[in-house]
Amino acid sequence: MHVLALCGSLRQQSRSLALLQAMRTLAPGRLDFTLFTGLGELPLFNPDLEPCAPSPVQALWSAVTQADALVIASPEYAHGVTGTIKNTLDWLVGLVPFTDKPVAVLNPSHRAQHADDALREILRTMNAQLIPEACLRIPVTACELNAEALASDPALSPLIRSALAALESFHANSLPRQGES
Ligand SMILES: Cc1cc2nc3c(=O)[nH]c(=O)nc-3n(C[C@H](O)[C@H](O)[C@H](O)COP(=O)(O)O)c2cc1C
Repeated sequence: MHVLALCGSLRQQSRSLALLQAMRTLAPGRLDFTLFTGLGELPLFNPDLEPCAPSPVQALWSAVTQADALVIASPEYAHGVTGTIKNTLDWLVGLVPFTDKPVAVLNPSHRAQHADDALREILRTMNAQLIPEACLRIPVTACELNAEALASDPALSPLIRSALAALESFHANSLPRQGES
């Protein structure tokens, strides 16, 4: 299974990024977990550019097309989603393979809900398949733990593992069974 992770914060010390890095650490070997690092290179979305998309956009489209599922962790800015994640998703609105893509949304805040709700609404509008059991609040923005410490934290690592398990189980259940056409 190929999982592509998208982080809605461009900060070097981003807690959302640390959460996704911890998830990559905890992912079982059979799961290919890739963190897409080019979101800061995407130009502002402009439909006029789509027919001849710049290379950072092509790279995003290719990574999303190849992924079996996406994981998004993104903070809340002024009660909304970050420009980074909105711009990324705007580039994906017209990408046919995005339709029905299984997506897990991780809310990295211990208190914020506006951005999480808005992000899910955007994804539903884009016809993504939200995986409810994998969409969790994993509160990391208020703690100072790095990715390594998050991956071994007794309270947070079980939440991260359960999101991973939910992703795998959703994927397994969506595969055609033997004998089914
Ligand atoms: C411009 C800006 C606006 C913010 N607005 C909110 C907000 O509305 N609600 C909230 O809970 N936190 C808000 N925060 C705090 C961030 O969610 C917090 O700093 C978080 O750790 C940022 O995510 P990151 O560590 O992944 O970059 C804001 C931070 C910034 C920089």
